[in-house]
This record gives sequence, structure tokens and C-alpha cells, in this order.
Amino acid sequence: MTVLTGAGVSAESGVPTFRDAQTGIWAQFRPEELATPEAFAANPERVWKWYAWRRQMVAAAKPNPGHLALVELERKVTQFTLITQNVDGLHQRAGSRNVIELHGNISRVKCSAENIVVTEYDEDGGVPPRCRRCGAFLRPDVVWFGENLPEAALSAAERASEKCDVFFSIGTSAVVYPAAALPHAALDSGAILVEINPQRTPLTADADFFLQGPSGVILPALLKATWPDAA
Ligand code: OAD
Repeated sequence: MTVLTGAGVSAESGVPTFRDAQTGIWAQFRPEELATPEAFAANPERVWKWYAWRRQMVAAAKPNPGHLALVELERKVTQFTLITQNVDGLHQRAGSRNVIELHGNISRVKCSAENIVVTEYDEDGGVPPRCRRCGAFLRPDVVWFGENLPEAALSAAERASEKCDVFFSIGTSAVVYPAAALPHAALDSGAILVEINPQRTPLTADADFFLQGPSGVILPALLKATWPDAA
């Protein structure tokens, strides 16, 4: 079983999604002003501060029943891969083990020039802080629009999508590639596709099952229905 998650899985933890009209972060900010290499080059301070704000929000958030149900699911099935587009680390904090992060992790920082993860830096200096080795600005270790996904993560995700018998697409608008190609790769390899989302997406018409609703409700219910005797 392979699962792909998006921002919707963390919505019930209070982390805003990207594209929901009312609550999405993008409703207040234009993404191209914040989440691109060009935006960072033009205004590194604003981009750094925006990520610092999101990092705080994520640190204060707690895994919700949807995250916890996915931990339980991993314990129950023999082969389980969780591919996430989320950078919030909530799956790992909930206890999921086999997690592939396609878009990086907001809690990590890397050197914008050398592209290597940095663990120690001076926070009382300028904003953004500078790399101690080369002096370049530090940036969040997340994938920005127009950037490539981490190669090893993407190929592992592709393999897991091609070899599974059931593929779940949960809480993602299924419009950002290459992640959005993974459910199609699974379908092409003969997998059953299940989508969980309160709203229809471009993927819904291709799904074998569309379970409409919030993942924090649907996933625990699905678990309970499949393993009624589990605690
Ligand atoms: P989006 O914001 O595009 O989509 C969130 C999806 O979650 C929508 O389809 C909602 O209907 C659904 N949703 C909302 N509440 C939900 C709930 N309680 N349970 C389940 N689903 C719910 O977020 P992503 O699809 O993750 O990339 O966006 C993909 C990528 O676009 C992100 O990783 C980010 C963004 O640009 C980068 O930053 C590279």
C-alpha cells in the first residue's frame, strides 16, 4: 500500500492548506512573492520571515486523528510507504516510519549557495542568517516552485507507486507535478486508487473510490470498519 498526502491532512491540525479559498495561506500572500528562488533573491528577508512564521505554526501544531490513523495503518499492512508533499513533519511526529518527503522539511535549513543542510547558525545576526562556511544566506530546506525535487526521494516515490496494489491520495489538490503524476503511475501499474478529500479534484474522476470528507474523520472510520476489533 502506498499513500500520498498533501496539505489537507494537516488542515485539522490547524496548519493552513495552500489552495483553499477561505483559509489557504495563498489567499493572503501571492506564492510567487514567497516560495520561489526569484522571490528569495529579490527579498530574502521577507521570505525568511514568512517561513519562520510557518515554522512556528508547525511547531505548535499537533498530529490529528488522520495522521494517527496512518500510523496504525502502517502497523497493519505488510508493505507501506507514505509519500508526503507536506514539509511540516507531522507524519513523523505522529509515529509514521516509512515516510518519503517530496518537498523537503521546514524545520531544516540549508545554505542557498552550497545546497547543504546546516545545523548551526547565528540567529541574532542579520535576517536571513548567513552560512558560517561561505557567508551566503541560509534558506529553508524546502522545494520552491521551479526547483527540482530531491532525486532520491522522487525515485523512491515512483517505485513505491508503481509496485503497490492500493494507492491512497489524501488531502491533496493533485495539481502540483511531479507529485500529481504518482497516482497515475499507480493506476497504470494496475493499482486500485482511493481518494480522500472533502472536495473533488482533477484526480477524482480516475479514482476507483472517492471517500468525500476530512481525512481526520474518514481515515479513523476506515480503519475501524476494516479492523473492528482493533483498539
Ligand atoms: P493544496 O492546498 O493544493 O490542497 C489541499 C487539499 O486538501 C485540497 O484538495 C482540499 O480540498 C483538501 N482538504 C482540505 N481540508 C481537508 C481535510 N480536513 N482533510 C482532507 N483533505 C482536506 O495542498 P497540496 O495538494 O498539498 O508545494 O499542494 C501541493 C503543493 O503545492 C504543496 O506541497 C506546496 C504547494 O505549492 C511546494 O511548496 C513545493
